[in-house]
Amino acid sequence: MYDTGKVLAGLGIFIAFITFPIWFSLAFGDADYRPNPQAPKDESSCIESKEYMKAWHMDLLNDWRNAVVRDGQRIYVSTDGKKHPMSLSLNCMKCHRNKEKFCDQCHNYIGVDPFCWDCHVEPEGE
Ligand code: HEC
Ligand code: HEC
Ligand code: HEC
Repeated sequence: MYDTGKVLAGLGIFIAFITFPIWFSLAFGDADYRPNPQAPKDESSCIESKEYMKAWHMDLLNDWRNAVVRDGQRIYVSTDGKKHPMSLSLNCMKCHRNKEKFCDQCHNYIGVDPFCWDCHVEPEGE
């Protein structure tokens, strides 16, 4: 004969399994959440390629800080030969005015919280 207890337990596990996506997203928010950084629309490109910026912006900023603070050098020449001020607020944040919808999108997602804004002025957004 059937063991009613085992059948019910099995049924429970089965239901939990097929409804997993539903309660998972109820418990943990949108399971499909992806960061959605919104680059400025009034500019066509960054100071370097998008791929380069994505991978290296932290190192670039670090180099800039060292160049400015240690060597007093303030001009960055990008790959296309254009000159840019080496500055967080006078460069990056002039274009990326909305920190929340840009920088923070990625940083919150991966859980980094650059402490730069303790000293550097945060843009006020659009
Ligand atoms: C002249 C305006 C401008 C400046 C200055 C600028 N950016 Fe950008 N940035 C853009 C635009 C426009 C894009 C989107 C490029 C694309 O879609 O091809 C972008 C893309 C990026 C990306 C890639 C985003 C993604 O979705 O992958 C990062 C990261 C980034 N910028 C960081 C910075 C940092 C850090 C600085 C300063 C060192 C900076 N940007 C300076 C306009 C600028
Ligand atoms: C496309 C996603 C993306 C965007 C947009 C982005 N970042 Fe980042 N950023 C990252 C990632 C990923 C890391 C962490 C890299 C690591 O841990 O090695 C990072 C790290 C950093 C760091 C180093 C922080 C640390 O504690 O090591 C700084 C500084 C930084 N980002 C500045 C900026 C600024 C300023 C902007 C906006 C102008 C920006 N980022 C936009 C993805 C992004
Ligand atoms: C304790 C305060 C403090 C913190 C935190 C800080 N900075 Fe700075 N930063 C300074 C000072 C002071 C200067 C020198 C300003 C000058 O000479 O123009 C500077 C200069 C810079 C410069 C070049 C000049 C400019 O106007 O931007 C860059 C780039 C820079 N910092 C990036 C960063 C980044 C990226 C972070 C976070 C990872 C950071 N800083 C965190 C104080 C700070």
